[in-house]
Amino acid sequence: MQKEQIYNAAVARIDARRHAARLEQERRTDEIMRRIPEAVELDRQLRSVCMRVFEAAGKEDREKRLAAIQKQTAEADRMLRAILTANGYPEDYLDIHYSCPICNDSGFHEGRRCECLQREISALAADAINQESQLALSQFDTFSLQYYSDLPQNEAAAMQRILQHCKNYAELFTPGESDSLLMLGKPGLGKTHLSLAIASVLIERGFTVIYDSVGALLHKLELEHFGRSKSEEDTLSSVLECDLLILDDFGTEFDTAFTQSQIYTILNSRMNARRATIINTNLTLEELRAHYGERIFSRLVTSKIMQFYGKDIRLKKRQGGST
Ligand SMILES: Nc1ncnc2c1ncn2[C@@H]1O[C@H](COP(=O)(O)OP(=O)(O)O)[C@@H](O)[C@H]1O
Ligand SMILES: [Mg+2]
Ligand SMILES: [Zn+2]
Repeated sequence: MQKEQIYNAAVARIDARRHAARLEQERRTDEIMRRIPEAVELDRQLRSVCMRVFEAAGKEDREKRLAAIQKQTAEADRMLRAILTANGYPEDYLDIHYSCPICNDSGFHEGRRCECLQREISALAADAINQESQLALSQFDTFSLQYYSDLPQNEAAAMQRILQHCKNYAELFTPGESDSLLMLGKPGLGKTHLSLAIASVLIERGFTVIYDSVGALLHKLELEHFGRSKSEEDTLSSVLECDLLILDDFGTEFDTAFTQSQIYTILNSRMNARRATIINTNLTLEELRAHYGERIFSRLVTSKIMQFYGKDIRLKKRQGGST
């Protein structure tokens, strides 16, 4: 999806919410007017306020009239609420209940995009990115510890702890609080599998997650940066703002000044905003330091580090057995 489509789709979602909130209020009003006849006159008074204010505006004694209207309106409103509670309804039953009280589901507040609209845009942009990289979600329940059972005791135990930690992480994930994770280990040990299992739970819980191999993602950013793709800015802002970013196969990307500076920007701004990132790599800590230098390395190692052990599970599966 291109930037404009994402924006339009997000606005359409907010519009639909506003529409639904108003329909619901109409339905409630009909219901109350049918059930509680005393409410009808009060409702009529409240509805005629606009008309009366409009009439008063042209008159000499408008100040006095407006004050009177205001007083009557407040009184009618108070009585209507009292009648509602007396009949067992919440006092705000006839108010319009918008999903977003900041912008009343208009999507804009003080001339700017409201948070709720921005959230929809980020969610849609994240979906679009995830779809492009064909996120095939691996789950926790298809992750078996069997594959690590022939390892030395301490390594098998480490894998068990990693699985438990990832499950807890996904269940308890809290934006602004959860750590970043750095998954280290040779290919085929389950790093991607567990990252996607976490992603799957978080998406289910309503968080925005972007998963991509770091190479593919940087390529997208580069196209946008140099203006060859039309979805300008969307990838970068989604990458910076999503609740969880998963950068897979860290260290396999094409190495240029641009990619290094983008990686630094991404890690640094997400860290400053206390947003969590999961990084998977086949490199060792020493290799990471040598490859990326102190500036990036020092940010990587603030993450919780998970060392994966074992023999390539892809091969084990192909050979048809768990040992
Ligand atoms: N513990 C596991 N149980 C079941 N399947 C696994 C396990 N670990 C890895 N796999 C599978 O093996 C393949 C390689 O794992 P992957 O997570 O891609 O490894 P890595 O990212 O560490 O290179 C994938 O198909 C994955 O689903
Ligand atoms: Mg992987
Ligand atoms: Zn809003």
